[in-house]
Amino acid sequence: MEILSVRNLGKVYKAAVSHEALSNINLSINEGEFVGIMGPSGSGKTTLLNMISTIDRPTSGEIHIGGEDPFGLSQDRLAMFRRRELGFVFQSFNLLNTLTVKENILLPLALDGVDLDEMNHRVKELGEKLGITSILNKRTYEISGGQSQRTAVARALIHAPKLVLADEPTGNLDSKSARDVMEMMERRNKEDQATMLLVTHDPVAASYCNRVIFIKDGQLYNEITYGDSRSDFYQKIINMLSLLGGSGHEFSPVRH
Ligand SMILES: Nc1ncnc2c1ncn2[C@@H]1O[C@H](COP(=O)(O)OP(=O)(O)OP(=O)(O)O)[C@@H](O)[C@H]1O
Ligand SMILES: [Mg+2]
Repeated sequence: MEILSVRNLGKVYKAAVSHEALSNINLSINEGEFVGIMGPSGSGKTTLLNMISTIDRPTSGEIHIGGEDPFGLSQDRLAMFRRRELGFVFQSFNLLNTLTVKENILLPLALDGVDLDEMNHRVKELGEKLGITSILNKRTYEISGGQSQRTAVARALIHAPKLVLADEPTGNLDSKSARDVMEMMERRNKEDQATMLLVTHDPVAASYCNRVIFIKDGQLYNEITYGDSRSDFYQKIINMLSLLGGSGHEFSPVRH
């Protein structure tokens, strides 16, 4: 079943000098896929993710998520759509530091008025799957970066959204924590069929996806799919990045 459909999408940032950040983007993501988006700095990755996440409006074209056009909804319904149907993971974690880990994870459910027993049940189950049971009652300043990102992944998954969107989720992590987080995401994808879209500069992180889409100068450039092994896929990703051109540093895990 198709979860995300993007048709002839274009985005122009209007200013004194207008800038066409994306043109004629077509892509489709099916339920249970884990898709990566890569491309040089400034190629339009965040612009694309911001439109799919309904934070920004396309200039042309269409986006459907679960068959629905979010931009056809009223402001109130769009806010609810975003809360219920989407999950977000950011480079900077975006946890609330006055709350505990558990309270952060439960926030999307609490906002939707889910009852306490159900919330406790779900956080226990997901906490075990993500290996964060022992930190559930800690405050966010008492946990590591890797634990913070696993908490953020739990928060993004707790309401079983149709689509999880992640922009550079490993960008602030050391390589060991980055692998841990990617393994968690991979497992949730495989075992729970969570559908995920990930923007990353990091070829290691991208190698956990089923498919990687490359964009260049605001246009689709190519896409490759996972073959027999992660090391082969990693090598294919590296090869594609060198074909894409741009200086090497543009693909290193940039810290913004
Ligand atoms: N709000 C904005 N107003 C005007 N131009 C913008 C705006 N946001 C992005 N751009 C421009 O659109 C292009 C695409 O930017 P975008 O942030 O999508 O790139 P990116 O692929 O995410 O880059 P990076 O890898 O550095 O995060 C860039 O040329 C950028 O300068
Ligand atoms: Mg970006």
